[in-house]
Amino acid sequence: MADTAKTATLTIGDQSFDLPIYSPTAGPDVIDIRKLYAQAGVFTYDPGFTSTASCDSTITFIDGDEGILTHRGYPIGQLAGKSHYLEVCYLLLYGELPTAAELETFEGTITRHTMLHEQMQYFFRGFRRDAHPMATMVGVVGAMSAFYHDSTDIADPRQREIASHRLIAKMPTIAAWAYKYSIGQPFVYPRNDLDYASNFLHMCFSVPAEPYHVDPILARAMDRIFTLHADHEQNASTSTVRLASSSGANPFACIAAGIACLWGPAHGGANQACLEMLKEIGSVDRIPEYIARAKDKNDPFRLMGFGHRVYKNFDPRATVMKQSADEVLDLLGVEDNPLLQVAKELERIALADEYFAEKKLFPNVDFYSGIILEAMGFPTSMFTPIFALSRTVGWISQWKEQLADPQMKIGRPRQLYQGNTTRDYVDIENR
Ligand code: CMC
Repeated sequence: MADTAKTATLTIGDQSFDLPIYSPTAGPDVIDIRKLYAQAGVFTYDPGFTSTASCDSTITFIDGDEGILTHRGYPIGQLAGKSHYLEVCYLLLYGELPTAAELETFEGTITRHTMLHEQMQYFFRGFRRDAHPMATMVGVVGAMSAFYHDSTDIADPRQREIASHRLIAKMPTIAAWAYKYSIGQPFVYPRNDLDYASNFLHMCFSVPAEPYHVDPILARAMDRIFTLHADHEQNASTSTVRLASSSGANPFACIAAGIACLWGPAHGGANQACLEMLKEIGSVDRIPEYIARAKDKNDPFRLMGFGHRVYKNFDPRATVMKQSADEVLDLLGVEDNPLLQVAKELERIALADEYFAEKKLFPNVDFYSGIILEAMGFPTSMFTPIFALSRTVGWISQWKEQLADPQMKIGRPRQLYQGNTTRDYVDIENR
């Protein structure tokens, strides 16, 4: 942690406490309150962690006011335009862009780990046929700790490395098989001659009965979706992974916890919810009705794919995603896609509306991703699994960073207790 000459002074009654302030390489200063309870006997209160830095990190930086997102210093727009997913994975995991030789070795390692233990098939088959693929993914990823015993010892750096590679390599197979199972088609084995995105499309869309050709332009769009979702600093699912890991849990259990958290509609589940909303709106003339509902305090409806805890200007991932949506629909010859029309008009009307401007609500990454994924042939239930497979590298990189951090402690927040004070037990006949 950076040394600092600055301090903040907290006064409680007639006592003052000096709290160190640390300056990061980018972003706001941070007040260190770790000794506050020991010195002053008070807790801080921050439900939702809106003002709390939970760790040191060197991986991802977001400036929400300026719409900036960087991984290891590189802007997301440059990575999405010039790099590709496995190179970004290397960057997130190891801190630097790889040389050609390093990238070749890394890609070879990931490619060699794409198959699942054959017995895992039976685990998939234990789920109800109509299980949501996210439910299957949470279960199967958690179950990896029962299949890969030789990479669960977090104290061994080599085992940590192997677990990282296994998770990144096997997640597309797990997501594709969860999908295949849900539609009653046979599991398709990975093909190691294909790149990461092409192999995922192959496992999702090919069937044994006929040849399947992966369109390289669709594979590029898929790869870009993976890249745009690769990491996002200390969001809810990443913080869940870090909290689970702080107890010493094995990597597969930690990532399963992250997947469970991602599923919620306020987080990764928003891409499915957003496309369902666009379909429900259906046509441009119904948009005002939904805008009015989103603004109505008595209506729980929210514009899905809109708003972000950190971005208060624009989400740089959404800018790339919108461009990609145009390109993919153009490529597929889907002219005048009604959902894209509704989405663009909804965005235009919302951005011109005082309510959304005042609350700084803009389209986020999930607003356009569903349109692309649907055009590629994915059902809405696969949108969040695709987010989960893309984010796995982010979770793993943050998990690795945390385990190497000498300041790492078990995460144990405190509370503002509002319940009864101690009282005596009342026998049942006297209640
Ligand atoms: N539609 C209408 N009003 C909204 C929306 C929305 N999508 N989002 C926030 N607001 C309003 C909210 O009602 C509140 O109003 P008021 O101050 O009058 O009570 C104000 O804006 C602040 O909202 P908040 O819920 O306190 O903000 P938050 O930072 O806790 O929540 C959010 C951020 C992303 C959960 C929220 O904007 C939301 O629910 N958006 C829709 C779901 C979504 O698209 N999630 C994906 C996020 S990006 C991908 C990811 O991280 O997984």
